[in-house]
Amino acid sequence: MRILHLSDVHISRIDGPDADGADGTAALRRMLGELVHLRDLDALVITGDVADDGSREAYTRIREIVGDFARERSAAVFYTTGNHDERGAFAEVLGSGHERPETVYEGPAGERAAASTVGGRRLITLDSLVPGKGYGWLSRAQLDWLADLLSAPAPLGTLLAFHHPPIALDVEVQRELGLRNAQELADVIRGTDVELILCGHFHLQLLGRFEQSTVWVTPGVASRVDLTVRPGSERVVHGPSASLVRLDVPHGPLIHTLHARDPRMGETVYEADEEQMREVIAKLGPGSGR
Ligand SMILES: [Fe+2]
Ligand SMILES: [Fe+2]
Repeated sequence: MRILHLSDVHISRIDGPDADGADGTAALRRMLGELVHLRDLDALVITGDVADDGSREAYTRIREIVGDFARERSAAVFYTTGNHDERGAFAEVLGSGHERPETVYEGPAGERAAASTVGGRRLITLDSLVPGKGYGWLSRAQLDWLADLLSAPAPLGTLLAFHHPPIALDVEVQRELGLRNAQELADVIRGTDVELILCGHFHLQLLGRFEQSTVWVTPGVASRVDLTVRPGSERVVHGPSASLVRLDVPHGPLIHTLHARDPRMGETVYEADEEQMREVIAKLGPGSGR
């Protein structure tokens, strides 16, 4: 089984670069254009921050671009929400994020989770979006739905996909704006057949263990975070990236990154110093409310 994992496309209503010079649509076209030789694909999984502005136009555009690529390869496409997404517009254009879901959960806040079978495996997408915030949270009702689903194992095992990683480096913005109730998720998946969790949000590649599962965080399509900077500050650079995930192979999951040739690769999109990052965290983190 082969999955192309993309995340953080940050497409906008308006075609072209944003105020910082990042251009999600161009980055996505560039990345997919480089993958012309990539065949034999079972699925494309896009783990959130699909739209930068949460607009209907952005979701329509990505559905067209990714849909063409996937159709040529007979691959199924799956989307999840991220903190930049807007649940209403996302659902209007992309539905549950699955083309033919077998089960869909819809919560009181409009959060959607769904499950499909692909390549003999169960793929479950979750919705970790907290409107107006940067950090992630999985509602108790969504986790109960997941626990119920996982009580029966799938023939070839289960993959989860959602935006906010349940793991973090010792980097304040990751700890503060990651999945804040990762422990509750750990309690739900412990001992189940979940073998791989695909996430985005951090805009860099990161691998870790979470209970019996591997967690893979794919770098962004629109931009990448460069951690060579002073601790507490942030540098975001150009360089569209993707991950290819292989299961059913010796030593799997085997995962590697693919990078588009971008003449601006490694050039700065924006930099934020320690004070600016503290402001971001104060605004987008849970603060005293949770
Ligand atoms: Fe993002
Ligand atoms: Fe994000």
